[in-house]
Amino acid sequence: MLDLILRNCTLTDGRTGIDIGIEADRIVAVMPNLVATAGETIEAGGQLVTAPFVDAHFHMDSTLSYGLPRINQSGTLLEGIALWGELKPFLTQELLVERALAYCDWAVAKGLLAIRSHVDVCDPRLLAVDALLHVRDKVKPYLDLQLVAFPQDGLLRAPGGLANLIRALDKGVDVVGGIPHFERTMSEGAESVRILCELAAERGLRVDMHCDESDDPMSRHIETLAFHAQRLGMQGRVTGSHLTSMHSMDNYYVSKLIPLMHEAGVAAIANPLINITLQGRHDSYPKRRGMTRVPELMAAGIVVAFGHDCVMDPWYPLGSADMLEVAQMGLHVAQMTGQDAMRNCFDAVTTAPATILGLDGYGIAIGGKADMVLLQARDKVDAIRLRATRLVVIRAGKVISRTPAATAMLDLPGRPAEVDWIVRN
Ligand code: FE2
Repeated sequence: MLDLILRNCTLTDGRTGIDIGIEADRIVAVMPNLVATAGETIEAGGQLVTAPFVDAHFHMDSTLSYGLPRINQSGTLLEGIALWGELKPFLTQELLVERALAYCDWAVAKGLLAIRSHVDVCDPRLLAVDALLHVRDKVKPYLDLQLVAFPQDGLLRAPGGLANLIRALDKGVDVVGGIPHFERTMSEGAESVRILCELAAERGLRVDMHCDESDDPMSRHIETLAFHAQRLGMQGRVTGSHLTSMHSMDNYYVSKLIPLMHEAGVAAIANPLINITLQGRHDSYPKRRGMTRVPELMAAGIVVAFGHDCVMDPWYPLGSADMLEVAQMGLHVAQMTGQDAMRNCFDAVTTAPATILGLDGYGIAIGGKADMVLLQARDKVDAIRLRATRLVVIRAGKVISRTPAATAMLDLPGRPAEVDWIVRN
């Protein structure tokens, strides 16, 4: 007798009529017509069951602080950074923990069970680091939180930047971050990339840098990051986040850069909600979109994820931990409306970020972790179109969240009374 069976599931690879058997925290069967009984059975009704959503790029130390101490008037990245600086002296560990836990509740309800969050290490008190390390432990039973030591004010530009970052790593922060485009000069930016990659290599850690988050077509830090990833043998462990300058770069240069990134095994994270609102703010018309070249990077075989980046903080006033909203925005901004392209957008908030985070046992497969989400959708494209309701969220074999199906009851003469927005051909 099994603990849990999900019957009549559609999987993200297109298989239909599949039963998923779970024993304790592991998947033990994925097959049609599973002959077994279980303590609990969930009837999926042919709807989509996916491994959980994964957010490869987030800022949990600033989340849910929107409007404190004031609102970002210009809407730019730089005013956001300045505003965060104004807020820092008023942060307390209790408030940071409270907001982060509230956000993790939102995440779980949306089937988002793994998050890589950057944490600002420039405050010498390392308040946010301590707070998020505490949160990482606290949410561990239901959410994997991976932390990146992020020198928001610049590794070399902020006093004590490197020392603080090392202290954060010593405390147990998982990944080495950086922000080369915010250093004083292009060469200091490049130097910061070298220092940080060597530090990560020494410690056997992954790297994930905010890289070229600007509209400057001459910003070249992703090239430097790829160079050091290759030089230090860190293929598959290094990620460039944002990479918005790639949108504005010369096409000839990009034709050299993308193969270099592929060769160096560097992954890319676009943050469509934030990139489309922050970038191009110095343009009149036409205004650049500012998101990196997602379809071209994917076509070159580079692992590309979409991150949420911000929710209700100095940089972004909206958001609800919904990675399908992120995928939908990415799809629109990158004009990825082909069938395969839309499916790739779903992968960019599931399998691709799981690869970037290095999550073990991720996916609906025998022996894998019994973490999954039943969506009110028939397939990946439907899931994005509908920003589908997360009917059931399962972690380690246990149901941890349920949401009622989205339907509307109409009162129209001579028309069916119930609407669920699914096309039945
Ligand atoms: Fe970011």
